[in-house]
Amino acid sequence: MIVAIIFMFGCNTKPEQPKIPKKKVDYIRPIPGKSDTIPVTMAQRGEVLIAYSDCYTCHKNDQKSIGPAFQDIAKRYPVNKAYVDMLAQKVISGGSGIWGSPIMVAHPNLSMEDARMMVLYVLSMKE
Ligand code: HEC
Repeated sequence: MIVAIIFMFGCNTKPEQPKIPKKKVDYIRPIPGKSDTIPVTMAQRGEVLIAYSDCYTCHKNDQKSIGPAFQDIAKRYPVNKAYVDMLAQKVISGGSGIWGSPIMVAHPNLSMEDARMMVLYVLSMKE
């Protein structure tokens, strides 16, 4: 009994640990940064381009599939030129290692401009 009380007392006097907010899916590590507004027309063109490409064989909007959910990608990256260019380049050249081991195939026939619009559509899925 005494042991239990000491134990409880000990617990109560512990300094408060700073709480790290829990993410629903722990593989998303949002990168801090300000987001620019996405021009609606660009996102709409991106949506069409994605619909006519092979993206949805590996991606879903709201669920992890072979690739990460588009909504999760949107949560991770701030919308600014540097990230949009980086992601567009990644869609063109393919790759792996950011979200896990599965590989995104390269899309060498995509122009940088089209890839950017696709990325803008993906990033427009921020909640
Ligand atoms: C063969 C399956 C596959 C196809 C097809 C595919 N993806 Fe991916 N995608 C992946 C995988 C796997 C990842 C995670 C890569 C990683 O972990 O680095 C990914 C990651 C991404 C990312 C995030 C990249 C990063 O570095 O965070 C974007 C944006 C993306 N895909 C967009 C697209 C678009 C747009 C298309 C269609 C043109 C597409 N993907 C087609 C599998 C695919």
